Amino acid sequence: MKSLSVFRAFSLFLACTHAFFYNASLDTRSMALGTLNTVVMGKTAVANPFYLLRRAFFGHEKRSALQSTCPQVWYDIAADFRREFNGCSRYASTAIRFSFHDAGGYSSKNSPYPPANGGADGSLLLSDVEIAREDHNPMQGFREYMLSKWNDYKDQGVGAADFVQAAGNMGIRSCLGPVITTMIGREDSSEAAPEGTLPKAFGQGSDQATIVQLFADKGISARELAALMGAHTVSRSFAQQKSGVKYASPQDDTPQVWDNGYYSQTQHRNTSSAAASFASDVNLAVPGTNVGESYTEFGNSGASWAKAFSEAMLKLSLLGLSEDKVASLVDCTDILHWDVE
Ligand code: HEM
Repeated sequence: MKSLSVFRAFSLFLACTHAFFYNASLDTRSMALGTLNTVVMGKTAVANPFYLLRRAFFGHEKRSALQSTCPQVWYDIAADFRREFNGCSRYASTAIRFSFHDAGGYSSKNSPYPPANGGADGSLLLSDVEIAREDHNPMQGFREYMLSKWNDYKDQGVGAADFVQAAGNMGIRSCLGPVITTMIGREDSSEAAPEGTLPKAFGQGSDQATIVQLFADKGISARELAALMGAHTVSRSFAQQKSGVKYASPQDDTPQVWDNGYYSQTQHRNTSSAAASFASDVNLAVPGTNVGESYTEFGNSGASWAKAFSEAMLKLSLLGLSEDKVASLVDCTDILHWDVE
C-alpha cells in the first residue's frame, strides 16, 4: 500500500515536471535547467549529464547547439586552418588578434543586449560597420578571408562567433602556443559592438591606468591582462607607421616563435633590436606596478605564463555570454590536439 502511494506521488511529480517543461517557453526551460545545472555542477563550462536532461526537454530548434560531442565539421575546419596557419603564418597571428577584437567588444559599461553584450558574438566578422573602424586596421582583408572560409562551413551549423574564437585558438596552436579550451555553441550577432571598448596603442588612452580599467570593465584582472599581452610574442605591426612603427616591425625579437621573450624584451628594451614596442606595451610593463610585476613573473617563468595565458584566453573567448549559455557550450578542444609540424 505504502509503495503504491510512493509510486503515485512519483508519477504526479513526473507529470507536473513534464507539463512544466512542455508548456513553458524555451527560455524558461533553459533557465530552470541552467539553474539546476549551476547548483549541482558549479559554474564551470564543461559537458555534464544535464545536457541529456536538456536535450530531452528542448524542442528540435535547440538540439544542434546542445549536443555533447564536438561535431565532425570542426575537425574539418581545424585541418583546413592548420594548413593555412602552418609555421605561424600571418593568417595565424591575425586570427589571434581578430578573436581578441571580437570578444573585446564587451564591457560591463555597455547597456546589456543579446546575445553577448558586444562580446564574443561574431559581429567583427558579420558587421561591415564594426570592421571598418580604425581600431581594427589592417584586419579588413583578413575579415574577407575569414568570411569566404566561413561560407564553406556555415551551412553545416557553424556559427560565426565560434568560428572566430576557434580560429584564434588554432592560430595560437600553429605558433606552438598552448592548447586553449575551445568551446562551441555561441549565438551570433551582426550588430556592431559599441565603440570605445578596445585599448589604444599610442597617445591618449595608452597609459597603464586607462588600459587596466578598460580590461577591468571586461572582468579581466591586471595579471590576466599581462598574461594576454604575451600574445604580442608573435605580433608584427602593419598599420602604425604614423606612430613611428616601421611596416612589419615585430614586437619582440622572435615573432615566429611563441616564447616569453616579449616580457623581458619589453621591460628592458635593447635599442639595437629591430623589435618596436607600442607605447601601451611599454606603459604596461613598468616594473613595480601591478601589471609590471606580472610581466617580470612571466618573463622569468614560461610555465607560469602558459597557465595564466590559457585561462585568460578562455575567459576572453566567453566575454558577454550568459552563465546559462556558457554552461550549454560543447567542448571542442580536441580539434587542437594535432602534431604541429
Ligand atoms: C593594451 C592592449 C593591446 C593593444 C593596445 C594592442 C594593440 C595592437 C596593435 C596596434 C597591433 C598591430 C596592428 C598592426 O599595425 O598591424 C597589434 C597586433 C597584435 N595583437 Fe595586440 N594589442 C593589445 C592586446 C592584445 C591582446 C590581448 C591580444 C591577444 C590575446 C593581442 C594580439 C595581437 C596579435 C596576435 C597581433 C599581431 C596581428 C597580426 O599579425 O596581424 N593583442 N596589437
